Amino acid sequence: ARVDKAGHRHFMAKEIAEQPQVLGEALRFYLGEAGDRITLPGDGIDFTKLERLTLVACGTAYYACLTAKYWFEQIARMPVEVDVASEFRYREPPVTPGTMALFVSQSGETADTLAALRYCRDKAETVVSVVNVAESSIARESDLALPILAGTEIGVASTKAFSCQLTVLLLLAIEAGRQRGTLDADRLADLLSALRGLPSVIGRAIDDGATAEALSLQLAEAQDVLFLGRGLMYPLALEGALKMKEISYIHAEAYASGELKHGPIALIDKHVPVVVMAPRDALFDKTVSNMQEVMARGGQVLLISDHAGITAAQDGIWRSIEMPQVDPVLSPILYAIPAQLIAYHTAVAKGTDVDQPRNLAKSVTVE
Ligand code: G6P
Repeated sequence: ARVDKAGHRHFMAKEIAEQPQVLGEALRFYLGEAGDRITLPGDGIDFTKLERLTLVACGTAYYACLTAKYWFEQIARMPVEVDVASEFRYREPPVTPGTMALFVSQSGETADTLAALRYCRDKAETVVSVVNVAESSIARESDLALPILAGTEIGVASTKAFSCQLTVLLLLAIEAGRQRGTLDADRLADLLSALRGLPSVIGRAIDDGATAEALSLQLAEAQDVLFLGRGLMYPLALEGALKMKEISYIHAEAYASGELKHGPIALIDKHVPVVVMAPRDALFDKTVSNMQEVMARGGQVLLISDHAGITAAQDGIWRSIEMPQVDPVLSPILYAIPAQLIAYHTAVAKGTDVDQPRNLAKSVTVE
């Protein structure tokens, strides 16, 4: 079927707006109508037989993998290795029996990811993929292919595929934790209930997009933008910076907030907007103190947080985007929304070709 922009100015805007719906569909596929247990297609995965996970992907899908590392470690207490496919495939890394090799790809055709998968085929215990295109090469060559059900994604910069990848990876980590006994029944029920509520929370974050739009005129003037986050917000900061580079052509970099003083703080002056992603999780106070270090050096902080009142309490914050509250475990999926909106509106303000940015391809099928 031909896909059109459904009244939106760009495919990217349409795909951002579709997220509540497609996430809802993905959740229904894995959780069923009752929504109280996770069912994987086919024979599923026996996580009790697995010793470690190796996650491999490119681009945005790689940042989904990096987020999943935090989830699998915390929720299922499993050792996880993550790498970009172009490095992994030539490193000849030892893949021990007991390893689940997991490949994440929207298109299922990325050449490096496919080569990495083939490298693992006769070495790993099992080869699993998380894909959007169900009939793709990566899906076909996996022992098990898990669909993300995002629907056709046209914008080169991935949006709805990213949030659906994250959702499926979180469901996997939860299922791994359940099977391995590292997640108790109460916490499992809490997480599944939070996930069921996620589409509507995501919808609210999209409806609140006016702040991101209002900021974009000023962000469009910047030469460099820095993204900071800790814990689960670190991979998301990387994804936020990638989105910004891809479509607005503004140089953007992301750092783990704790690394700020090991280099990037030297870049900060009043011309550098610093996007700080800080949900009220266990690391919130630490992120706030990193933010104060930025402000003390004249950095223009854009704070994205669910901490109502922090802006009032923290004089000197340039702008803030107030987020709905969500279980901190789910925050990367929710905070992907402002990351997408900031990049989108900044690109629109700059007048770039949002859906077809220069030099980029939707799917990189040659090396
Ligand atoms: C290209 C696209 C990115 C995408 C990456 C991986 O670089 O421009 O948006 O994240 O490929 O693609 P895949 O289809 O494997 O997820």
